[in-house]
Amino acid sequence: MSVPRWLNAITTALSVPENKGKVAYQVATIDSQNIPHVRTQIHRGFVTPRDAAHVPLLITSTDVRSPKAEQMLFNTAVEIAWWMEGSMDQFRISGRAFIIPGPDHPQYSTAFSHIEKSAILSTLTSSGETNSDSTSGSNEFDFEQKRREIFDAMRPAMKATWYRPVAPGSVIASYDVPKGWSREVPTLEEAKTEEDKKKWHDALANFAMLLIEPTKIDWVQLGEKPNRRTLFTRTDSGDGWKEEILAP
Ligand SMILES: Cc1cc2nc3c(=O)[nH]c(=O)nc-3n(C[C@H](O)[C@H](O)[C@H](O)COP(=O)(O)O)c2cc1C
Repeated sequence: MSVPRWLNAITTALSVPENKGKVAYQVATIDSQNIPHVRTQIHRGFVTPRDAAHVPLLITSTDVRSPKAEQMLFNTAVEIAWWMEGSMDQFRISGRAFIIPGPDHPQYSTAFSHIEKSAILSTLTSSGETNSDSTSGSNEFDFEQKRREIFDAMRPAMKATWYRPVAPGSVIASYDVPKGWSREVPTLEEAKTEEDKKKWHDALANFAMLLIEPTKIDWVQLGEKPNRRTLFTRTDSGDGWKEEILAP
């Protein structure tokens, strides 16, 4: 199956100079009391299942101790709103979120029970991603390797955010409290002391990769006159997506 048209629309929009750096989107979740929550997250790329290339998954990341992680483990339904101001495109992506914590994390089995329930994530698990060049002979997707890859790509100051001694959202006594926290966590290769190595391990333990499986994309083009709006909905027939033109 070919690359879905909505993905071409996103990658084209991201490639124009006016949209440089527009990698932040808002991700909405629902908690166990049915209350909605929304926050900004950074897009970290796509992973495309080899045997389901029509459903590329969005990659983002978070702290596994954060409220959003708990919400996503309770209810995988999410919606993203991604506004690219330069080209005046809005992509509203509905789908399911899959939190991937480290293998030793207490929520690991809950996280993987969600993965097993998704046909797309299951095919990613068994057949891997499109651009992997398996040297081991196995095509299986290595979730832990991908989580490490995304974590390793983070700057030392960013890595330090997962090393904070308290969970995100915890009440602290004053604005001065974080002044006593580590500002940087080096890569494992650069860690010179045992303390630095421990910091790296502890930060990685709090780091969660987040995969979002899209089921619907509502694309609004305000740069077009008259404005355009296109809805892509997942289907089991044809190229895997139904495309409809909507009133903007
Ligand atoms: C520009 C920007 C980018 C952000 N990127 C992320 C991100 O990639 N992952 C994340 O967990 N939080 C990110 N945050 C922080 C969240 O928006 C949010 O404040 C925090 O994660 C707590 O969310 P929660 O209480 O809903 O779990 C970002 C905030 C801003 C302003």
